[in-house]
Amino acid sequence: MKHKNITILGIESSCDETSAALIKDGKILANIIATQKIHETFGGVVPELASRAHQINIVPAVKIAIEKANCSVNDIDAIAYTRGPGLMGALLVGASFAKAMALALQIPLIEVHHMQAHILAHFIEDDENKPKPQFPFLCLTVSGGHTQIVRVDDYLKMKIIGETIDDAAGEAFDKVAKLLKLPYPGGPWIDKLAQHGNPERFVFPHPQIKNLDFSFSGLKTSILYFLQNETLKDANFIEHNKADLCASVQKTIIDILLSKLQKAAKITGINTIALAGGVSANSGLRNQLQMLAQKNKWNIFIPKFEYCTDNAAMIAITGYYKYLNNDFGAQHHAPFARYTF
Ligand code: KG4
Ligand code: ZN
Repeated sequence: MKHKNITILGIESSCDETSAALIKDGKILANIIATQKIHETFGGVVPELASRAHQINIVPAVKIAIEKANCSVNDIDAIAYTRGPGLMGALLVGASFAKAMALALQIPLIEVHHMQAHILAHFIEDDENKPKPQFPFLCLTVSGGHTQIVRVDDYLKMKIIGETIDDAAGEAFDKVAKLLKLPYPGGPWIDKLAQHGNPERFVFPHPQIKNLDFSFSGLKTSILYFLQNETLKDANFIEHNKADLCASVQKTIIDILLSKLQKAAKITGINTIALAGGVSANSGLRNQLQMLAQKNKWNIFIPKFEYCTDNAAMIAITGYYKYLNNDFGAQHHAPFARYTF
């Protein structure tokens, strides 16, 4: 049974996006995202600079979200914020803001796990006709910091059945992009350049991990040695082969992800499959999953682009389901950089 007229303000500040969103009874009213460009100069997220940028962005982001939603602070029933995982300094900005605002308005706080929120982004209502995944489903959650296969039995009942033992898929994209001298974050650049390349041109090794876990650090190392070798023969090897390199790397990462997903579907017997997290914006992954779904008769769910990468709408929708479950947070709870579920 859904409650009526429940408005949740969501706050996300775990990495390099400061975001505020409002959701009413599951429907999106506003989702404001301030992306921090400063990190491009350094080729990766600099934690201290992320915290400072969050501090600058948080008040305007919340203010604009409330204006865009056409409501007032008094319409907000609870404030949901990312408690973790993430960068401690960055999380502290969102947590402190959420706590202060909840205290001032005398409304409840809700603590959200960032990776669960990526999954629940599928339940944001912004298009009446878009079907939602039915429970149980499997979600391949692929972001800059995590790579997980999650069995989702209900909104707040989920279990990780496979995850990376070293680098995340997004991290693999970003680290290889750095080797290819592409800007940060490299995932979208590899995606773009891969569209003009030959994915079969270079073959990179797949890790041999028996269960449903992943490993990406060996791929990065093998590409590093491969590039060092080839650059000795042709100093401009990377420049001359950029599109083919991107297409081949992307194909390898996608093959690793989808072969494990296929194994997970077989083991669990679940054929409702969802994708979540920043890497789910990858066009190759989206296309390959669609092809695999046809072959295996899977019912698949791919998020809209704006809900793939970090956003507060996913925090607010998770907050909504926690609100319905009377699962509230506390002022004395600190953020968790390594929050698990
Ligand atoms: O979920 P997210 O926004 O932040 C974390 O929670 O980490 O994911 C960011 C990651 C980065 O590694 C970025 O390179 C990757 O998602 N990413 C992509 C694409 N768009 C974002 N990777 C491959 N192809 C893309 N189109
Ligand atoms: Zn994320």
